[in-house]
Amino acid sequence: MNQPITIALPKGRLFEKTSTLLRSCGYDLELGERQLVARERNDRLQAILVKNSDLPTYVHHGIAGLGICGSDVIYESGYDFFELLTLPFGKTRICLAGRSDEKDDHRTATSLTVASKFTRFTRDFFHHRGIPVSIIRLNGSVELAPVLGLAPYIVDLVETGSTLKAHDLEVKEVLGETEVKLVANRAFYKYHNKRIGAFVEELKSVL
Ligand code: PRP
Repeated sequence: MNQPITIALPKGRLFEKTSTLLRSCGYDLELGERQLVARERNDRLQAILVKNSDLPTYVHHGIAGLGICGSDVIYESGYDFFELLTLPFGKTRICLAGRSDEKDDHRTATSLTVASKFTRFTRDFFHHRGIPVSIIRLNGSVELAPVLGLAPYIVDLVETGSTLKAHDLEVKEVLGETEVKLVANRAFYKYHNKRIGAFVEELKSVL
C-alpha cells in the first residue's frame, strides 16, 4: 500500500477554503484542537498545517511533497516548484499604498522608501523600473508604517481595501496580482507523477 501523500496547507485565512475543497473530493481531514498534522480517513493524504511564509520551506525540503500557497509567498521564498494548478480562490492584488492625505510622487521620484514583508518582490519590481528602493522589512501590521512615519509607502496585499481605509491609506498603484497555487517538490513530482496527476484530476473535477 502506498504511503499517504503529504500536503502542506497554510494556516489562517486560506485553510478553510482549502480544506473545503479537499473535502469536496472526499478527503476529509481530521484535525484535533491545536493539532498540526491531519490524516484523512482512507490514509491517502496527510496534511501538515504550517505558517504561510514557512510553507515553501517544507515543500522545498521534501517534508511535504505538495503544498497550497499564494504565488506571493512562493516568489518571496525564491524556491522553484512544479506548478500543478491555480485555485479559484484567494486572488489578491499586491499594491503600493500610502497616506491618502499625502501627495503621491512615486512615479517621478528618484528613489523610494517602502516598508513591506514582500521585500524580494518590492526590490525586483522597482529595480526593473529603474528606481532605487530602500526597503524596511516588517512581518505584519505593515499599515502602521506610513501612519507612524516609518516609511511613506508600503507594498502589501489588498483584498477588500478595508485595512487601508481604516488607516487613512489608499492604493497608489496596483503592482501585481497574486493567486493560490498547488505546487509540488520537483523530485517528489518526478517519482510520483501518476499519483499526483490523479490527485490533480480529482481537484479539477470539483473546481
Ligand atoms: C493582509 C494584508 C493586509 C490585509 C488586507 O494581512 O497584509 O493587512 O490582509 O486585506 P483587506 O484589503 O481585505 O483589508 P493578513 O490578514 O494576512 O495579516 P498580516 O497583517 O499578518 O499580514
